[in-house]
Amino acid sequence: MPQQGICIGFVSGKGGTGKTSLVAGIGAALAETGKRTLCVDCDTEFRNLDLVMGLTEQSLMDFTDVAAGRCTLEEAVTEHPARRGLFLLNAPIRGGERVTKMEMNALAAHIRKHFDFCLMDAPPGMGDSFGLVSGAADRMLLVAEMNPLSVRDAQRVVTELDAFPPGDVRLIVNRVCLSPFRRPELTIDDIMDGAGLPLAGLVPEDDAVLKALCHGTLIKPDSAAGRACRNIAQRIGGEYVPLPRMYR
Ligand SMILES: Nc1ncnc2c1ncn2[C@@H]1O[C@H](COP(=O)(O)OP(=O)(O)O)[C@@H](O)[C@H]1O
Ligand SMILES: [Mg+2]
Repeated sequence: MPQQGICIGFVSGKGGTGKTSLVAGIGAALAETGKRTLCVDCDTEFRNLDLVMGLTEQSLMDFTDVAAGRCTLEEAVTEHPARRGLFLLNAPIRGGERVTKMEMNALAAHIRKHFDFCLMDAPPGMGDSFGLVSGAADRMLLVAEMNPLSVRDAQRVVTELDAFPPGDVRLIVNRVCLSPFRRPELTIDDIMDGAGLPLAGLVPEDDAVLKALCHGTLIKPDSAAGRACRNIAQRIGGEYVPLPRMYR
């Protein structure tokens, strides 16, 4: 039997921690290593992964259409013109028809047969879409920032993920400040201890993320954030690579 792909949900307590940016960045890095990667926008209220990947107006169909059988997966996905092997499956423009957990799980099972990795971009919080993503994903990545509010949010989200075996829920700390003149109030260890999760990766604060968004391109692979996304992609892909050194 061919190897099944892996579905990974990206979640956070509050919005703005960088889930969508990292789904696009890590997805692009996985595709660069030769893994067929599908990024799914699971935010049915505020879809924006298409904008972040520079793929607006590309597809009329979305994941609710595929889940409900109104079109095929192949008809709904769009391959990125600049990154072979990187695909997007949109969310509906607004609302869309409700997808049940059973439909979502069936969609994930179908996706696993056609892709090496599926990155599911969840909306913030623990509403219906969070339930769909956490119910269908094999692993979860919780994206947090370096402040006490984000740590408290992470603690709260973790309590909803106790069905996952230890190690299948990991933490990405985003927007790590690299300036030698600004020592952060919290250390990475504080955040890991607070959230009670092992670390999947660190991503620095980097203008390249906003620049990519404004230009409708993927994050530059040779930027600090691009290298961090590659590091996480390699670790997700099972390679042993050390975490990037961000503090001296
Ligand atoms: N590492 C980073 N460095 C700089 N800006 C970032 C970084 N990660 C995210 N951002 C910016 O933060 C904002 C929110 O990011 P987004 O990915 O939309 O978060 P979420 O999906 O969690 O709501 C965007 O403007 C994005 O460009
Ligand atoms: Mg988002």
